[in-house]
Amino acid sequence: TLPQVFITRRLPTQLQRLEEIANVEVWTKRQPPPYEVLLEKVKKVNGLLCLLSDRIDRHLLEGGMSLRAISQMAVGYDNIDIGAATARGIPVGHTPGVLTDATADLTWALLMVAARRIVEADRFVRAGEWQTWEPDLLLGPNIAGATLGIIGFGRIGQAMARRAKGFDMRVVYTSKHRCDLELEQKLDVEFTNFETLLQLSDFVTIHTPLSPETDGLFAENEFALMKKSAILINTSRGAIINPNALYKALSSGEIAGAAIDVTEPEPIPTDSPLLTLDNLIITPHIGSASFQTREKMASMAIDNLIAGLKGERLPNCVNPEIYEL
Ligand code: GLV
Ligand code: GLV
Repeated sequence: TLPQVFITRRLPTQLQRLEEIANVEVWTKRQPPPYEVLLEKVKKVNGLLCLLSDRIDRHLLEGGMSLRAISQMAVGYDNIDIGAATARGIPVGHTPGVLTDATADLTWALLMVAARRIVEADRFVRAGEWQTWEPDLLLGPNIAGATLGIIGFGRIGQAMARRAKGFDMRVVYTSKHRCDLELEQKLDVEFTNFETLLQLSDFVTIHTPLSPETDGLFAENEFALMKKSAILINTSRGAIINPNALYKALSSGEIAGAAIDVTEPEPIPTDSPLLTLDNLIITPHIGSASFQTREKMASMAIDNLIAGLKGERLPNCVNPEIYEL
């Protein structure tokens, strides 16, 4: 009999390849399956294709006695207990690479929109407040000549450095592992420590995964180190910034502005004080949301799942150490 697969959402790609080798059930509602539903499904299936809005924890994995593969349609996988999956020998797939440019593009858009106050400007026009050309109307900082600080220098961080060079910015970065000098020279970037980066940068952008080390990385001390004119951009994971500290920094003028595509929790509660701030731009976790990229992510997630069901090595595996055992 064919293996059983559960997919936690309708995907923007054809399922044909998968349906040839498995019985596929798709959760078709707009909201993710409740945890209890996921718990029941996982007990019965051999393959799970999930999203970052699904919590795949140890308890859930313990019920997955027949689970041969977990395939996440995202590059980040902080919603999955990787240690627990590894302990059970279950490979976890993800979708790196295909969303690098789309995510860097959205990040770059947020940087420019925040600097030049485009959201505020649009609201201003629609509110009928545009009366004349004014020398001091809606001013923001220059981008050319400014310093961009990149936190986390993986694929997306490096893609930001390439964009910044086209806009004549100085680029500094910090990262757990410094990259080699040849790459630094090619990208024309300078390595620095976290504190110095915060002090130097006119724009700070976060491109690190969420982990115990980066959870709450931005709190009161970090905002205090930043320039009063600085703009913070986050398209990685919401929990990297402490929301209370962000509110305080933005409302007291400790930094000039922020633009975030991710919040903690998601969605942001409708009564969050952050939603009252004019100097904050929020988008609903759409970093990878280009037609082509989402299609590629879905297709890559299916490739990972098919390999897992066949007992082959996943093309993009988060925990390849399971193959060493
Ligand atoms: C989206 O946030 C992803 O991790 O792909
Ligand atoms: C994610 O793709 C990263 O490595 O930055």
